[in-house]
Formats: sequence, C-alpha cells, structure tokens
Amino acid sequence: MNKDHLQADSAMHSESDSDFSKIIDAGLSRRRFLQGGATAMGLFLAANPLAEAMAATSNPQSKLLGFTKVPASTADTFVVPEGYVAKPLISWGDPILKGAPEFDESGTQPASAQAGQFGDNTDGMTFFPLSDDHGLLAVNNEYTNYPLLFDHRGEAMTADDVKKAQAAVGISVFEIRRTADGWEYSKDSDYNRRITANTEMMLTGPAAGDDLLKTSVDASGTKVLGTFNNCANGETPWGTYLTCEENFNGFFAKPGGGQTAHEKRYGLKDDSDYQWFKFDDRFDITKEPNEPNRHGWVVEIDPMDPTSTPLKRTALGRFKHENAAVIVADNGHVVVYLGDDERGEHLYKFVSKNKYNATDKAANRNLLEEGTLYVSRFSAQPGEVKGTGEWIELTYGKNGLTKENGFNSQAEVLIYAREAATVVGATTMDRPEWVAVNHKTKTVCCTLTNNKYRGKKDNQPVGGPNPRANNKYGQIVRWNETNGDNSATTFKWDLFLVAGNPTVHNDFYAGSANINDENMFNSPDGLGFDKAGRLWILTDGKYSNEGDFAGMGNNQMLCADPQTGEVRRFATGPIACEITGLTFSPDQRTVFVGVQHPGEDDKPSHFPAGGNSKPRSTIMAIQRKDGGIIGA
Ligand code: FEO
Ligand code: CA
Ligand code: CA
Ligand code: CA
Repeated sequence: MNKDHLQADSAMHSESDSDFSKIIDAGLSRRRFLQGGATAMGLFLAANPLAEAMAATSNPQSKLLGFTKVPASTADTFVVPEGYVAKPLISWGDPILKGAPEFDESGTQPASAQAGQFGDNTDGMTFFPLSDDHGLLAVNNEYTNYPLLFDHRGEAMTADDVKKAQAAVGISVFEIRRTADGWEYSKDSDYNRRITANTEMMLTGPAAGDDLLKTSVDASGTKVLGTFNNCANGETPWGTYLTCEENFNGFFAKPGGGQTAHEKRYGLKDDSDYQWFKFDDRFDITKEPNEPNRHGWVVEIDPMDPTSTPLKRTALGRFKHENAAVIVADNGHVVVYLGDDERGEHLYKFVSKNKYNATDKAANRNLLEEGTLYVSRFSAQPGEVKGTGEWIELTYGKNGLTKENGFNSQAEVLIYAREAATVVGATTMDRPEWVAVNHKTKTVCCTLTNNKYRGKKDNQPVGGPNPRANNKYGQIVRWNETNGDNSATTFKWDLFLVAGNPTVHNDFYAGSANINDENMFNSPDGLGFDKAGRLWILTDGKYSNEGDFAGMGNNQMLCADPQTGEVRRFATGPIACEITGLTFSPDQRTVFVGVQHPGEDDKPSHFPAGGNSKPRSTIMAIQRKDGGIIGA
C-alpha cells in the first residue's frame, strides 16, 4: 500500500473528525486532495483492500477476459463484441402455448391471446438443461407497459383488459433447442407453461395459514392466486426455479387512503396505475386487507412439471425480493441470499434447517420450508470501505422480536420482515439488487444500485458499504463468510467496485480506480458468476447520456475479473431498455440475456424488428462465431 496515501489518510482524519462519511458528504473535491498530496481516489484506494488489484487494471492483462471491449452506444440495436453474434430468441407476445395466436401489435388482442403468449418485460431467467443443446427456459415477466399492451394506452380499461394485464405478467416456461441457425423455442412443447397473476399456488412454511394471510375467499390462509412483479430469480441444486416477488405493492390500491404503519412500510398506496382494483376486488385493500400479505415472497416452481403447483416459501421472508442466490454450504445446509430492493432496506440470508441430500434430489424438495432468516449488519472503521459484518437472526422471541415490539409469532416476523429488520438494527443499504455467489471461492457479491436518499434521511447515514451521499451511480459490495462457511453468522466485506463518471467528476463520484472512460456505467443491477468465475454485470440505469451520465450511453452488460478488478464492457442494449436476466447453457457457449422495456416512456425504439414496429421486450441468445466459451 502506498505510504503517501496512508499519510494523506491520517491527515484527512485530523482535519475532518476522522469521519470518512463526512469527508464524502462534505463534497470535498479531488482537487483539494491533490493539493494535500493525494487524490480523493487515493484515499479511497488507501482504504480499500482492493487497491493494489485495482491499480493493476491500469495495465489490464486479464487471463479471464478474452473479448474485445465495445464502446458505449446510443443506437437502437444490441451490440456484442467482434466475433460474437446476438439473436432474438423470443419477444413479448410470441405464442408459447398450443393454439395461441401470433403477436399482433395493434394492442387489441384479448386476454385469452396474451394468456398463451410470452409475457411482457422479460427479467430473471434460468436455463434448465435437458442437454447442452436443449432445455427449458423459465423466465420472469416482471410487469407490463400499458402504452404498448393496449391501443388505448391504459386510459380506457375494461375487465378484460385487467385480465390481459394479469396474463402479461408472471412466469413463462418454454422449451428451447440449439440448431444450426442458433437457438429456437418450440411453440408446441408439452413443457410450455404460463404462470400468471391468476395461477393457483400454495403458501407454505411458518407463516402459511396465519390469520394475516386469510381472505374472504380463502379461510385457510394457504391458497393464493398468482404471482406478479417477478423481478429476478434463482435456481436450486434440486432443479427448481425460484421467482422473486418485488414491487407487488404497485398492483394494489387503498382508495381513500388511511394506510396502517405496516401498509406504509411496504409502500401500499391509495391508487394503482395498473387499475386492477377497479375490476378485481382482491386488489382493493379496503375489501381484502390481507391480500397484499400473500405477495412479496419467493416462489418455488418445478419447471419440468407443467401441472405442478407453485409454492410460496414464507420462511424466506416477505419484502420486495430482488433475486435468490442459492449455495449449499460445506456443512450441507442450503443458504439463500436475498436483497430487498428499496432505498434504505436490507440484505438477508436464509439457512435451511435440514441438509441437502446430493444422492436423492427429490428428498430436497422441501428444504426451503424450514430454516432461519437472518439480516445483515455491516461495520467499518471510520475512513474505511471494508470491514466486518454479522447476520442477525430474525426469530420470534430473540433479538427484541417480542410482543413488546409488536411481534406475536414467527409468522408475523416473516410477514413484516422489514420491520423485524429495523428492530434488530440491520444496516440500511443502497437498494440491494442481485446477489451472486462464486461457487468456487464461496465469495458473495451484491449490487447496490443507487440511492438518492443516502445522507438525506436519518436512518440512511453515509458510510460502510454505502459510502456516498446522493448515490447516483451504485456500487458492488463483496463478502466472504467466516471460514468459508456460507451458513456462518459473521463475515468480512469490501467494495469490489464503485461506479461513477470520471469524465464529469473528480471526486468520489468518479468511481473506483477500475472505472474509466471506456467502461463507465451506472446502476449495476443483474449480477452473476459463470463457471470460470467471471463476474457479469447488467445495468438498469439512466440512459440520458447527459450530465452525470454523459458518455455512458444505453444500458449495458459488462464482465469483470474478480482477481484483477478489471471491468470490460461486453454488450450494449437498444434505446430506453434495461438489460436484465442472465443464464448460460451448461457448456458456457451461449449466454441468454434479456432486453427489458426497450422504448419505455415513448422513447424512439423499434427493437427488435426495426422499421416502424412496436418495441418489444426480448431475450437475446449470444454465441461466439467460432463456438467458443462466452467471455473467454
Ligand atoms: Fe425489478 Fe430491483 O429490479
Ligand atoms: Ca432488477
Ligand atoms: Ca434496478
Ligand atoms: Ca426494469
């Protein structure tokens, strides 16, 4: 480590109350640090255990990354590196069930058509292989864009329109095959399935059957219709798909207001842009006050059995679930890392009570039924962007989760997990999006996408893994659990990267040393390791290409070498899209990536068909022309 940096570090501390957060919060310029003999980023590096690795990226010779970087783009196309080809596999509205009609862009197709077609807004997905060249893709359809879904743009809703919107969300499962022309999906496969906001599913686990989950049509508190706002995903080693219910609150309304504290904490509002409550009573909170409690869970689905009942796993807690990153700890317990994507909410993990049975896959089917939910608390010395952390148990009767604090049972702790996390003193985070686990090293990473409230709200102080006030760009936090045991209750953390714009800022908003004018981006969201340990990063950020975001272009896909810290841009998406959803063929020679909402807010995209066509969310299959490993 550079001695000058250390000296500058201590000098800064003496003049600024030894408080790293105040240094950043005060907006001290890089120039001032330069005058003091070190750069702001120098301080950042001095405090960062990655300093040397990051510094090494000024001369990047990563052995892991073998592709040619692509420039930022504002074009209405999907751009991949030289030697690669990207083809649309399926777009919103393509038929996947037998007898379903072809997509019609008029916006007048009825609910019955959408019910047999690929849903809107492709998001998290998993490839379930039948071979290297053949398998099922299970895909989330997060929400739906009314200006594209309807000819009336959502301004003249009918009961059938609500049913159509309910059929445009949820999950799509369909069979795909690699052919000489690339990947194709099978329109008439018996495996194909749509799961929508009206598919019957079961609540299971400690909260199932609780009074708070009972409604006028379900006295059992276990039988629930549908899943929606399924953001990202996970997959289990026993072959099931996990779909994560994120901003479910937006589909409910409480006309007249008067929200309870619980309803406020979960973002339930008077009105809903989707307008389902006007035609379907279960989305009207004044009529069905417990219906929102039946959403905000992780749902487990067997993709190989199209008649199977999806299972909502209440043991994993209720919040705005982003994804579910699964690893079997060395001791056999199944660990699931879970982010709650909202400014100032938390990062969780679940550890199963029972152990994984590698020799009998079926014996694992209920491992997510019972276990312990934890929430994270990060610690750091002032001036450091690394430190230690602990996982605090969210179990009724422990850590203040008692009647005095408003909890009457484990069911209530799980249903109101956010409030339980507050009681135990969890760290408020900059919007935890995807978590990814490197299965070789057991290292875990989480994208903290951005947070305009950081430093502005009392419960969101600047510091630790959230080191910048008004965080426009986001960062990736990384941790290793004690003794490499993913079920452990303590860990060590640092920041893998801090996104920023070094062409606009010369302070901490320039980002960490591995961010430069050729790879800069904002709002990391999707995240995943491939088998070789490359870290893939997908963005869902501002695409104005102006001001703080000048030179960043459209949303994009990057690849990082966790050893050297190098980050290289791999692909860029079309106009006004988010890149989200990431899964590989088992041979790692194809990566599937989602282009979500091209042309949102009436931006001028005609992706993927071009011409004057309606923009459509689309899954891209990316291969190398020489058939090689993606990224190598
Ligand atoms: Fe649906 Fe947090 O992204
Ligand atoms: Ca996301
Ligand atoms: Ca996002
Ligand atoms: Ca999105």
